[in-house]
Amino acid sequence: MMPLNGKTALITGSTDGVGRVVAERLGEAGTRVLIHGRDRQRGERVVATIKAAGGAAEFLAADFASLAEVRRLADTVRKTETRLDILINNAGIGTAGTSRLISNDGLELRFAVNYLAGFLLTYLLLPLIRQSTPAHIVNVASAGQQAIDFRDVMIARGFSGSRAYCQSKLAQIMFTIELARELADADVVVTALHPATYMDTSMVRRAGVTPISTVEEGAKAILQLAVSPTVAGRGGRYFSGLKEARANAQAYDESARQKLRTLSLRLTGLSEAAG
Ligand SMILES: NC(=O)c1ccc[n+]([C@@H]2O[C@H](COP(=O)([O-])OP(=O)(O)OC[C@H]3O[C@@H](n4cnc5c(N)ncnc54)[C@H](OP(=O)(O)O)[C@@H]3O)[C@@H](O)[C@H]2O)c1
Repeated sequence: MMPLNGKTALITGSTDGVGRVVAERLGEAGTRVLIHGRDRQRGERVVATIKAAGGAAEFLAADFASLAEVRRLADTVRKTETRLDILINNAGIGTAGTSRLISNDGLELRFAVNYLAGFLLTYLLLPLIRQSTPAHIVNVASAGQQAIDFRDVMIARGFSGSRAYCQSKLAQIMFTIELARELADADVVVTALHPATYMDTSMVRRAGVTPISTVEEGAKAILQLAVSPTVAGRGGRYFSGLKEARANAQAYDESARQKLRTLSLRLTGLSEAAG
C-alpha cells in the first residue's frame, strides 16, 4: 500500500474481523489508527500488534447500543485529534438470533448499532474531517439489503435478525448517497460497499454459515475506498468488492432517503443544520 504517513483514521469495529485487518494495514502504511469496539482486551491487542510493527494506534471504547456513548466517542476524538483523514463506519451486528433486541435508547438494535450510530458519529466528526481534506468516509454495508418499511422501521411486526440486518445495511447506503450530495463542495469522498461475501469472521461463524471469502479480500475492497485516489469524484457510489454496483432500488428513491434522513436527525437529536 502507498505510504500514508501523517494521516489519521478511525475504524469502528476494529477489535475483530475485517475492521481489525483494515486497521493493521493502515497502521503498517504509517497512518495513526484509532481502534474502536467494546472489548478493551481485544482492542489493546490490536493496538499492540500495530505498535509492534512500528505503527501508531490507540483504543477507544464505546458501545454503539447507546447514542450517549457515540457522542462520548466523538467528543474524545475531537479533543485528542487535530485531523481525521479516514472514517470507516464498520462496526456491526450480524443476522444471527431470532429475538428482537432493543438499544439503550429504545430503538431496534441493528438499526441503532449498524446504521444510526455511524450516522451520528459521522455528523459529529464532520467538521474535523472537513479540515483534513482530501478525506474519505467509507460505510461498510452489505449485499444483504432490504427496503425499509417506514410504517414499522423498528420492526415491531415480522421481526427476523436477517430483516433487521438487511434494512440497517440499506440505510447505510441511503445515508451515503445523501451525505455525498451534501459534501459535493468538499474534498471528502463518501462511499459504501459490500466488502466480500461470507468472510471468515465471528459474525459469519455466529450465523452458522460456512465462510467462502477471506478477510483479506474484504479488507482490500474497504482500503480501495479509504485511500485510493481512483475513488475521487465517485462519492455516493455503492461498490461490491472492488467494483461499482447497484444497490437495492430504495437507495435511489429520493423521497425514501429524505424520510430516513428526517427520522435519523430526530432520533439522534441532531438539528437540520448538521454537517
Ligand atoms: N463478514 C462478512 O462476510 C460481511 C459481509 C458483508 C458485510 N459485512 C460487514 O462488515 C462489517 C464487519 O463485519 P465482520 O464480519 O468483520 O464482523 P465481526 O468480526 O463480528 O466484527 C464486528 C466488529 O463490530 C464491533 N461491534 C459489534 N457490536 C458493537 C457495538 N454494540 N458497539 C460497538 N462495536 C460493536 C465488534 O467489536 P466488540 O465486540 O469489541 O464490540 C467488532 O470489532 C459489518 O458492518 C458487516 O455488516 C461483513
